[in-house]
Amino acid sequence: MAKSISQGSVFGYLLLNLLAAQLVVFGQLTPGFYYTTCPEVEDIVFVGMQQAVQKEARMAASILRLFFHDCFVQGCDASILLDDTAMFQSEKTAAPNNNSVRGFDVIDSIKAQVEFACPGIVSCADILAIASRDGVVLSQGPRWDVLLGRRDSRTASLSLANTNIPAPNSTLSALISKFSAQGLSILDLVTLSGAHTIGQSRCVSFRQRLYNKANSGQQDPTIAPLYAQQLQSICPPSGGDNNLFPLDIFTPTLFNNQYYTNLEINEGLLNSDEVLYTTTGSSTLSMAQNFASSQADFFASFTASMVKMGNIGTLTGSNGEIRKTCRAINS
Ligand code: HEM
Ligand SMILES: *[C@@H]1O[C@H](CO)[C@@H](O)[C@H](O)[C@H]1NC(C)=O
Ligand SMILES: *[C@@H]1O[C@H](CO)[C@@H](O)[C@H](O)[C@H]1NC(C)=O
Repeated sequence: MAKSISQGSVFGYLLLNLLAAQLVVFGQLTPGFYYTTCPEVEDIVFVGMQQAVQKEARMAASILRLFFHDCFVQGCDASILLDDTAMFQSEKTAAPNNNSVRGFDVIDSIKAQVEFACPGIVSCADILAIASRDGVVLSQGPRWDVLLGRRDSRTASLSLANTNIPAPNSTLSALISKFSAQGLSILDLVTLSGAHTIGQSRCVSFRQRLYNKANSGQQDPTIAPLYAQQLQSICPPSGGDNNLFPLDIFTPTLFNNQYYTNLEINEGLLNSDEVLYTTTGSSTLSMAQNFASSQADFFASFTASMVKMGNIGTLTGSNGEIRKTCRAINS
């Protein structure tokens, strides 16, 4: 009885999430933005991502994360792609990004091909949005129509990258407030965290849980003991900061709902993952349980939340610019 009530409310949330995504269609972005000006853009991006993912499956994850880190800083405006200039510092060395975000070469190469086909038409921000979707599709995840028409920023913000992007040792309330600051709900948080069904994390991002959770000197009690031993073998108390471990230990390159099952068995890798499941009294538990039991619900909610995230703070119309190369503003 209790179970059916909580699942009923999760379905209610899901419906709201889908409706919210539909409303975005009436905003400024539209799937057909380049239909007449660059009809081949989605084909070019797809082939570029196909080649990149064939070379290295992880690239699907790396590009998806780039998009997230772009959208949470000044909106989805390709600010994360900019290198240092005399006017501003790049976001690339902000704490959540330094030695961690990757995939810039892949975006550069796709952008060069898009510029060759349709010079000066397609923004880097839109290329990143399409490439993220294609990485998910190429990892056997869901497909959705990407809304287009974003323009590129003429500036970046190292300080907003440091404040807006949540840290892996965040508490649930910190995660909820960072998402809320971007107009994203608790359901968006639980849903988008499911992106951790693919990709890798460095040891530094989860070491505290193994040896010194929240400065307690103790291991996090919400890590399964054998799993903790596996993590410790590649992540010693000091050194090995950049050693990698998959975010989803069972199917690290497949986009599926395994992430939520991992939370259930205390095998979520980051503190920010496991707290969705283990924080007492939180609505996030029933959402995670629902996604663990229904991949279809996870996929439907993921596509809706990606559209919402992709709509954060976009530059449209005559704001911003269409960069010639993604690493630098036009002179
Ligand atoms: C909820 C808050 C989140 C936190 C605290 C978080 C934190 C992290 C951390 C620490 C890593 C490993 C980075 C490293 O050690 O180099 C990571 C990887 C990743 N994150 Fe998140 N993340 C969050 C949400 C998201 C969202 C919303 C998405 C996309 C929708 C996302 C997509 C990814 C992907 C795909 C990877 C793997 C990247 C790769 O292998 O290159 N994350 N995340
Ligand atoms: C980024 O990482 C490099 C290489 O580890 C390091 O030298 C540099 O100090 C870091 N930058 C910041 C801003 O933390
Ligand atoms: C997260 O880690 C930072 C250092 O990396 C530390 O200062 C902070 O206290 C940690 N927060 C929690 C909640 O453990």
